[in-house]
Amino acid sequence: MKLIITKDYEEMSKKAYNEFSQIVNHIKEPKIGFATGSTPIGFYNEIVKSYQTKGVSYENLKAYNLDEYIGLSRNNEHRYNYFLNHHIFNRINIKKENIDIILDNDNPIIEECERYSNILLKNPLDVQILGIGANGHVGFNEPGTKPNSKTRVVELNEVTIKDNSRLFSKIEEVPKHAITVGITDILNAKNIILLASGKNKSEAVKNMINGDISELCPASYLQKHDNVTVIIDQEAASLL
Ligand code: F6R
Repeated sequence: MKLIITKDYEEMSKKAYNEFSQIVNHIKEPKIGFATGSTPIGFYNEIVKSYQTKGVSYENLKAYNLDEYIGLSRNNEHRYNYFLNHHIFNRINIKKENIDIILDNDNPIIEECERYSNILLKNPLDVQILGIGANGHVGFNEPGTKPNSKTRVVELNEVTIKDNSRLFSKIEEVPKHAITVGITDILNAKNIILLASGKNKSEAVKNMINGDISELCPASYLQKHDNVTVIIDQEAASLL
């Protein structure tokens, strides 16, 4: 794992953009897996800035994502297609037909899991962007996830429901189930960029980097991948 420790969130976001652009600039039709959550927002703003101020084109970029809640209506603003449209896709020149977000269609859920896993396994992503949960999850691969897992329906862990409730008006509104891409799908990407910011991620970051590879911390499976760049601020790095 390549580890980059930055002084704060802003520097983390800028470094993430540098790493990302170094890979993507050389690829004609880059395939990118986007994470949602608070952590990558600053990085996505850097991508938007590169388009708006430097004229970097994202016309040929193909976009995928990591996960989606089950049970929210198509136009609910907590859906991850809404998040990604709002923070990035509506602000760059990506073509709508190049965006394939999990469950942004009427497919039955089981078929959708199979469809998505097949895409990720047959056409490896050039970059998978990840955040990390305070419990060590990546995507919604919660503690207990097996390394051979593929895209599937999962039950969200109590820690995740509590953490994500900050974005809902009350905890009861947080869905209990989601679709997530699996560890196999994530590890099939050619490059992985994982971001973490803040003290509440420091334990998970420590277990991911220095801990045993274990289902107790699904992010530790990333130790098996050859091209992972971990970009974290000082607070997230405080237990290393
Ligand atoms: C989001 C996702 C999650 C988040 C993680 C951290 O698509 O898959 O694994 O990356 O929960 O979330 P934040 O960045 O909000 O702390």
